[in-house]
Amino acid sequence: DDAPPAKATALSFAAVAKTHADKVTVPAGYQVSILHALGDPMQFGDASWSDKGTETAESYDRRIGDGHDGMYFFGMKDGKFDAGTSASGLLCVNHEYVVQPYGLHPAGSTTVDGKRPADEVEKEIRAHGASVVEVKRKASGTDMEMVRGSKYNRRITSATEMAFGGPATGSAKLVNKLSPTGTQAFGMNNNCACGYTPWGTYLTCEENFLNVIGRAAGDDAQRSATEIVALKRYGLPEGRKNPYGWDTPEGEQYQRWNSKVSAGSAPQDYRNIFNTFGWVVEIDPFRPDSKPVKRSALGRFNHEGAWPAPAKAGEPIVIYSGDDARNEYVYKFVSDAKWDPKDVNGGAAVGAKYLDKGTLYVAKFNNDGSGEWLELTFGKNGIDAANKIYPFADQADVLIHCRLAADSRGATKMDRPEWGGVNPLNGEVYMTMTNNSQRDGTKVPLDAANPRKGNQNGHIVRWKEEGSQAGTKFKWDVYLFGARADGKQSENLSGLTDVNDFSSPDGLYFDQRAAGAGGLLWIQTDDGAYTDVTNCMMLAALPGRVGDGGAAKTKEGQATIMGAKPTDATVRRFLVGPFDCEITGVVVTPDGKTLFFNVQHPGEAAADFATNTFTSHWPGNQAPASDTAHAGHKRPRSATVVVTRTDGGVIGI
Ligand code: FEO
Ligand code: CA
Ligand code: CA
Ligand code: CA
Repeated sequence: DDAPPAKATALSFAAVAKTHADKVTVPAGYQVSILHALGDPMQFGDASWSDKGTETAESYDRRIGDGHDGMYFFGMKDGKFDAGTSASGLLCVNHEYVVQPYGLHPAGSTTVDGKRPADEVEKEIRAHGASVVEVKRKASGTDMEMVRGSKYNRRITSATEMAFGGPATGSAKLVNKLSPTGTQAFGMNNNCACGYTPWGTYLTCEENFLNVIGRAAGDDAQRSATEIVALKRYGLPEGRKNPYGWDTPEGEQYQRWNSKVSAGSAPQDYRNIFNTFGWVVEIDPFRPDSKPVKRSALGRFNHEGAWPAPAKAGEPIVIYSGDDARNEYVYKFVSDAKWDPKDVNGGAAVGAKYLDKGTLYVAKFNNDGSGEWLELTFGKNGIDAANKIYPFADQADVLIHCRLAADSRGATKMDRPEWGGVNPLNGEVYMTMTNNSQRDGTKVPLDAANPRKGNQNGHIVRWKEEGSQAGTKFKWDVYLFGARADGKQSENLSGLTDVNDFSSPDGLYFDQRAAGAGGLLWIQTDDGAYTDVTNCMMLAALPGRVGDGGAAKTKEGQATIMGAKPTDATVRRFLVGPFDCEITGVVVTPDGKTLFFNVQHPGEAAADFATNTFTSHWPGNQAPASDTAHAGHKRPRSATVVVTRTDGGVIGI
C-alpha cells in the first residue's frame, strides 16, 4: 500500500478558520501527534526533558536541537534510500537557531560583565545544526514515531567538522587557524530550509549566519579596501558585536566566533572564518559516520534552501536557491554531469560528481514577463580582476562573494526570497517572496516582479523555463499576492477571502503526488503582520500554470503580471499553529498519508521563568497524557508534528 494516490482535482477538507488558539488546529477528520521537540533524547541513557533547562551542554550531542525548520523524509528499505517507501525512513530536520531566553537554560540566557558563561554557549552551539532520526509508522495506522536508539540517529551542530567541496575548496579566502589548507569547516550555522538529492542525501542551508559572528572594532585598519567591500556587502562592518556573544567566554576556542585579523599571517587567525559560513551543506543520512560537505559551487549568501527540479536521466541536476535578505537575488545551479539513475545511494563521490562542477546563474525578471539567467563565471561578462564593483581573483572568489558578482550582472533585487519548489508535473518553479519593508518605491523602486510598496504581506513568484529546465530564459508571473481579506495592509490583488487569506509566505513545498493541473502545493507562513488576527498557518493549493492570468496594475500604478485569481476551491487554509510561532518545514510520505511539519519558536515573545509564565505552553498543552515525553510541560518548545487522517486516508485531496 505504498503506491501513490490517484490523481485528484479537489481539496477535500474544510478550511480551518484563523485563530489565536495556543495549539495546532487541523480540519475535522485529521489528527496530530508530536514526533520530537527541543531536548528530546535520541538515544537511550539520557534523561527525558526536565522542563527546567538543566540538561547538560554535552547531552545536546544526543538531543533534538532547537528551532526546527526545513526538513525532508527519505524512505528507507533494507537500510538504503528508497523514494517509494512510506512506512519507514530517515527524517532530517534543521535546527535553525536557539531562542536564547527559552528552554535551553534554567532562567534564560545570561551575560556577566559582558561575558557569556561558557557552559551556556556550549549548549547553544550544540542545539544548532540538524538532526537525523529514524522514523517508522506506529503499529496501527499512518501516524509515525521516532525510533529512539537507532544507529542512524545523529546530530550535526555548530561544532561538527565538515569538508569543503567544489571550486572554493582550498581558497586562500577560506584559510583559517582551524583549517590552514582552507579545505575544512567547523560547524554549520542557522540552517534554515533545505533540499534533497535524487541520490538520497539531504541539503541543508546556512542562512542568518551573521547571528553567530562578530568583528572587532578597529579591524578595518588591518584589511585591504577589497576585503572591506566584501565584508560590508555581506553585512559585517567592523565593531559589530556577535549577537549571541559566543566570542565572549574565556578561552581560545571561542575566538573563532569573531572574524578579525590577529597578529601573524592568515592561517594563524580567524580573519576568514566568516567566509566558511553561508553555504549549502550535503549530509548523507544513510551513512551516520559520513562527514558533511559544504558544496561551494552553489554559492555563498543567506541561503534559505536548495530546491531541486525532478531529476531526469541524461539531463543535468538543476537546483534553485534564494538569498533571504531584503533586495537580494534568486539563483540557479546547473550541474555539468548528466543524471544517471544508477547513482542512487552512491554516497559522497556521487555528491561531488553532481554538485562540485557546474554553472551558477542569477535571475533577472524583466517587466514584460520574460526573464533570463545571468551566468556567474570568472572571466566572463566582466567578472574578473578589472571589475569596478569588486576585483574578482578567481572562481572561488566569485562563489564566496557571489552577491557582488550578481550586482555586477544587474540581477533583479527581490522582496526576500524564501522557499522554492518545482511542480513535478510540469517543471514550473514557485518561490515565496516573504515581505520587504525596504521596497519604498523610491530608494528601492517598484518593478513588475516586486510591484507593491512596503510589501507587508509578501507574494509568490513562479516561472517556466524555456526549452529545458537548464535553459537560460524563462517566462514568469506572480502566482499569489499575500494579503488580509480586509485589505488593511498590502493590496488584495489576488482577491483572497477568509478561507485562504495569508501574510508572509515562507515555507513552500510540492508534494510528489499528482493533483489537478499541478502537484499539490503547501504554503506556510512566518508572519508578524497579520498576527493581530491569527497565528501562523499552512495552506494547501491546486496551482494553475504560468500565464493563466494576465496583465494587472497595483494601486501605486506599477504594472505587473499575475496568475489566474485563486478561488476557495483552489487555495484553502489547512492548519493554524500555536501562539507566537512560525510554521515551517513540510514533507509528505510518497503514499500521501503522513505529513510532517514544524512549529518553530512558539511563545517566543515573553517569559517569566519564576512563575513558568509564557505566551505559549505548546506542545505540553496539546500532547495527550499518553505522550509522556511532552504532556503537561510548561516551557514552549519547537517541535516536529505528524498529521494524519483519522481514517488513514490520503491527506488534503
Ligand atoms: Fe530562516 Fe528566511 O527563513
Ligand atoms: Ca525561522
Ligand atoms: Ca524561512
Ligand atoms: Ca521568514
